[in-house]
Amino acid sequence: MKIQKLTENFGASVEGLDLSRVPDDTVMRSLADALYANRLLLIKGQDLEVDDYYQFGRQWGELITHVSEFLRVPGYPEMMCIGNTEDKDRDPAIRNGAVHWHTDGSYKLPATAITMLYARKVPANGGNTWFCDMARAYDALTDADKALARSSIANHLFGAGTDDDEVTPAGAAQTQAEATPVKNSLVKIHPVTGRSALYGLGQSPYSIDGLSDDDARARIRYFKSHATQPEFLYEHRYEPGDIMLIDCLATMHKATPSEVAESPDADNARIMWRLSTEGLPPAVAAV
Ligand SMILES: [Fe+2]
Repeated sequence: MKIQKLTENFGASVEGLDLSRVPDDTVMRSLADALYANRLLLIKGQDLEVDDYYQFGRQWGELITHVSEFLRVPGYPEMMCIGNTEDKDRDPAIRNGAVHWHTDGSYKLPATAITMLYARKVPANGGNTWFCDMARAYDALTDADKALARSSIANHLFGAGTDDDEVTPAGAAQTQAEATPVKNSLVKIHPVTGRSALYGLGQSPYSIDGLSDDDARARIRYFKSHATQPEFLYEHRYEPGDIMLIDCLATMHKATPSEVAESPDADNARIMWRLSTEGLPPAVAAV
């Protein structure tokens, strides 16, 4: 197994690992160390059955059942199939429901810790993911802005974000009606690294305690504009077999739009299997 940097400051990549068998604790700790140090971990060249991937995902914490039930893989309620090949994907609110900056699970407690995306089918064009390094973005703030962000307590609901670029994901209204808003500071202190990062700046924050709606929108936009400067971004173009692990407590991401594909074998087919976790990986929690 070889772990190296993905870019100079953001992300690591792993080659020479076969996940058709669950890695032992030593390997898992190396993978977790690389993820937490770099916030993204790309594992290349995997050819896995659904259950292989599911068993690997379980090594990263408690698997979550997502609110979007129409994305669930039969027999694996925690696994989501994201793409453009099924009838449901003809609805752009489903196919392209994640093309705005967001942090997975910022609308719930405990917050989503890790998301992993396994690229099964990769279109010739589109279907990339942009990632934003919220830890380095936080480090680059002035001390006054760090304090302002830390003291800003935002209220979140799934799909309730009010910034101009927000896309309302499918099912948002029903989910909002059934959910309780959660409060998150605009700064998250990472439970493993202790490092601070900007947090939850898109898709779910709809107000900030003590501010008018306009002032809240302006403050979120201010920090989001800072965080999404090019020096904090990485655009990943997937190859089939890539698994991208995302430290959701220190990043945000957005998809690039994709068109409808007429079948899973079409040149423009996109199929991603997603798993997300709460809590710590057992191999990390045991140390
Ligand atoms: Fe996402």
